[in-house]
Amino acid sequence: MLALGIETTCDETAAAIIRCGADGKGEILANEIASQIADHAAYGGVVPEIAARAHVEVLDALIKHAMTKAGVSFNELSCIAAAAGPGLMGCVLVGLTTAKTLALVANKPLVAVNHLEAHALTPRLTDQVPFPYLLLLVSGGHTQLLAVQGVGQYKRLGTTIDDAIGEAFDKVAKMLGLPYPGGPEVEKQAMNGNPERFDLPRPLLGRREPDFSLSGLKTAVRIAAEMQAPLSATDIADLCASFQAAVVDVIVDRVRAALRSFREQFGTPNALVVAGGVGSNQSIRCSLQRFSASAGIRFIVPPADLCTDNGAMIAWAGIERFALGMVDDIYITGRPRWPLDETAPPALGSGRYGARV
Ligand code: KG4
Ligand code: ZN
Repeated sequence: MLALGIETTCDETAAAIIRCGADGKGEILANEIASQIADHAAYGGVVPEIAARAHVEVLDALIKHAMTKAGVSFNELSCIAAAAGPGLMGCVLVGLTTAKTLALVANKPLVAVNHLEAHALTPRLTDQVPFPYLLLLVSGGHTQLLAVQGVGQYKRLGTTIDDAIGEAFDKVAKMLGLPYPGGPEVEKQAMNGNPERFDLPRPLLGRREPDFSLSGLKTAVRIAAEMQAPLSATDIADLCASFQAAVVDVIVDRVRAALRSFREQFGTPNALVVAGGVGSNQSIRCSLQRFSASAGIRFIVPPADLCTDNGAMIAWAGIERFALGMVDDIYITGRPRWPLDETAPPALGSGRYGARV
């Protein structure tokens, strides 16, 4: 099987080609990406209209480049996959419409992929991990713990009731005057900082439900920064290190709660898997590695460039779905919101957590 994958849900334009052999192993033949970071940097965040236009400008050439690099023709493709959400609607439509057009012209099946499912299935591309596994999905827009039971079969164990972890990294970076995107900058600063200098809260630590809350921690960083102002380079490094240490403590504790919940419902998972951009953070990776070793479960995290948004994950999810006959018709529309577990109730939101327990 050979698939083209197209990703345009946010601020990365990406196209990739993956071949999958009879043994079920995927091989990345091309994985092209055009980042829009420079286009958005001046605004401190992604501007949807700028993002959509930037996708239009580069996507055709990027697909051509990926096809050439992989040395394949449209005729040879088994399917054409595109992320159909969740994401910025104007952005999603660029990739999905391009995929529909190619599928019609080349007479190939279309696979509309959920961007989150693509993150969730990436460890099967990199490490052939069998179902079921426990997934920590941590990106700019999402923070969830899920039981992955099969393609299209996800049970949400926990979620954030306010901000996503990546979003919290980005906001902390912004309040400390660090450039966008904030996650990698905060991590860089934290390497030279003292994680014990600021005593920051660890929200929901010890709760049985594997949910997250980040807004109080973010506010605590803001207050600490305001009290220190004007900030020296050491203050910034110490605030970043203290914030990251709090996030690490929260993540490990919430994963522990999720593992308990997973075991109660489904038995022991085949692995703890981390997906999404925040998974490229070394401190988070190392702590989860240690936790997994102590809990006696396999730990898998894809290489950093397959954790952040990319085309290979869409092509792989396309192959997994296509292999099971899950193809879509040309009338499918994009979805700005598209939860992996459609049965899970919406999170209650900041400040209302107490009403639920
Ligand atoms: O998965 P992703 O590339 O895009 C989304 O689907 O959101 O994740 C991007 C998010 C951003 O919030 C970014 O700041 C965060 O992942 N991120 C990091 C690191 N690298 C990226 N957060 C913490 N540490 C990092 N090294
Ligand atoms: Zn993503």
